[in-house]
Amino acid sequence: MARIIDATPACDIPNGLAARPANPAAARGLEYNDEVKAAVDHLYEEVKDFVTPFEWPTIAPLIHAINKLKAEKNAVVLAHNYMTPDIFRLVGDFRGDSLQLAREAANVDQQVIVQAGVHFMAETSKILAPEKTVLIPSMEAGCSLAASITGEDIRLVKEKFPGIPVITYVNTTADVKAETDICCTSSNAVQVVEQAAKDWGTDTVILMPDQYLAKNVAANTDIRIITWAGACEVHELFNGQDVKDLREAHPGVMVLAHPECPPDVLTEADFAGSTSALANYVKVNSPNKVVLLTECSMSDNVAAENPDVEFIKPCNLCPHMKRITLENIYDCLTEMQFEVTIPEDIRIKAKKAIDAMLALPKMETPPDFKTGLKPVDLEVLSRAS
Ligand code: 13P
Ligand code: SF4
Repeated sequence: MARIIDATPACDIPNGLAARPANPAAARGLEYNDEVKAAVDHLYEEVKDFVTPFEWPTIAPLIHAINKLKAEKNAVVLAHNYMTPDIFRLVGDFRGDSLQLAREAANVDQQVIVQAGVHFMAETSKILAPEKTVLIPSMEAGCSLAASITGEDIRLVKEKFPGIPVITYVNTTADVKAETDICCTSSNAVQVVEQAAKDWGTDTVILMPDQYLAKNVAANTDIRIITWAGACEVHELFNGQDVKDLREAHPGVMVLAHPECPPDVLTEADFAGSTSALANYVKVNSPNKVVLLTECSMSDNVAAENPDVEFIKPCNLCPHMKRITLENIYDCLTEMQFEVTIPEDIRIKAKKAIDAMLALPKMETPPDFKTGLKPVDLEVLSRAS
């Protein structure tokens, strides 16, 4: 039995589930009737650690309705690892990190893609699958990294550093990707940096906008990196002292961190990698006790698949990811809202940068970042510089 222990008050919503009205299904005129029970009650087992038996009748009708709507509208739900377990396990058709979801978007057969994730992920899907209707359940599901930089910022950086390849994190807008040579995700950032330096014949690359990801990549490569003063508002809240405190409070705990965390976290952690690399590490190594220094729902989703592992849970919520709910996925499919569109000239340019990334050899297992290394100092640009 997986145990979720809230070790700090960082997450004030139990198990990362967003607060919702007393009966969200009834609020939409959906009943917990015999048809619903027959269709979805067997799924309760999958979320029983996160949804109480009293809550189940209030969401089961939504799950049933969403699954019916998907078939009627020829739609598929791409669910990021940070979705709450009700979405991730019960309505997500494809689940994964941002690189895996981008690869799926490029290949799905269905006509409609519902992005259960944030806006930049929906844009990535639209860039790769322009003939599909791409919907996002909430237009407010943004990202602090994507908001930190614009296409104009990248143009100015390119003027300042001609001949240096520009790599941007997928957590950026289509405008930014359109100014980019090659994109990367946390899954392939080291690989992309080294490949770009080789292809451009340089010893320096620009990697923006996440300064912490850039610093963590810099600790893993000899290539010189110039970065931007962006940060993930969720991961920047962790620090190296948190890791020391966790080890003291929970002797023997295995500490896994996302590379959007500040470098002192990776110095202290046992393992670091993309959301899927973290999930994979738990699956393969089955540690007795583990902590994932990342978004809250990740621990819930990984715990559900690793019932013998004890999870310590000092997580931080991503307010943007948590804007996606079963209710608005239902509304999204009912009303066919909110459609994500991108001007064709921007899309074509942005696609080149994503295609360059997707053309790199696919790695069988998500690679990790070396931990225990000393943080590296980088040139960090901002609008003021
Ligand atoms: P991954 O690419 O590891 O899924 O990360 C996306 C993200 O937004 C992490 O905060
Ligand atoms: Fe953006 Fe951070 Fe939320 Fe990921 S967790 S979507 S990087 S704000």
